Amino acid sequence: MAEVIGQISTSHVPAIGGAIAKRLQQDPYWKPFFDSFPPVRTWLAAKRPDAVVMVYNDHGLNFFLDKLPTFAIGAASSYVSSDEGWGIPTIEPVQGQPELSWAIIEGVIGDEFDVTMCQEMLIDHAVTVPLQLLWPAQHAPLPIVPIAINTVQHPLPSPSRCLKFGQAIGRAIARWKSDARVVVVSTGGLSHQLDGERAGFINPEFDALCLDALAQDPARLTQYSVHDLVEQAGTQGVEILNWIAGRGVLAGHAKEVFRNYHIPISNTASAVQLLERA
Ligand code: DHB
Ligand code: FE
Repeated sequence: MAEVIGQISTSHVPAIGGAIAKRLQQDPYWKPFFDSFPPVRTWLAAKRPDAVVMVYNDHGLNFFLDKLPTFAIGAASSYVSSDEGWGIPTIEPVQGQPELSWAIIEGVIGDEFDVTMCQEMLIDHAVTVPLQLLWPAQHAPLPIVPIAINTVQHPLPSPSRCLKFGQAIGRAIARWKSDARVVVVSTGGLSHQLDGERAGFINPEFDALCLDALAQDPARLTQYSVHDLVEQAGTQGVEILNWIAGRGVLAGHAKEVFRNYHIPISNTASAVQLLERA
């Protein structure tokens, strides 16, 4: 029986990839953000997971508005990164874990989540930036299973649906006949809005509420509709759906090991949260 050992959630702003490429980690603008990662890396080094389940949203690289699955799961043996238009460097192909991918796909479809299964999948900054932040020396020392949630083209899945989807993924991992230790990495958010009248909108109170709920009682977030999330967190702040689904994968009670919140990074309220099983 495989085990989910924890959830790491982080923002995935493309400018972070640019800052890494330019080695700006000690620059005054970037330092408070980059300084939040060493404690998380120390935890990873101590816990030694075998695989990463990445819960994120694609930004038009792999799926575009013409065809956009609500939930898509990669089942490839490797994933190629490509720039969807921000001009940030790509990374080496990332190894997949097809056996775990298929265990998750079978499990969630058995649980009535009709996902799109992808035997080829390009990965964008929402996967590559978090990998670079968490494993700066190697980018991707562990095989990944990429799981993309539509946070782009409305209608989006609700917080409640995303939490249940994550729980179904968690059950599938628990049924996988393997002694692997799996870490969930969720990416995106927190509050941000990139365009329109409220461009630059950030809501620290709502972000704090979300971080507390994710740690203590994620079901609290199921009271919100997608419309509420847009209102409270901004049009792109709906990426919190990835964190909610990831929290469902961890399931049960969690202990918050580490949190950092720093505004702004580019247009985004950046946050890092590490939860482990209580
Ligand atoms: C920004 C944030 C994102 O989540 C994203 O996908 C693209 C850009 C930003 O703040 O610049
Ligand atoms: Fe994004």
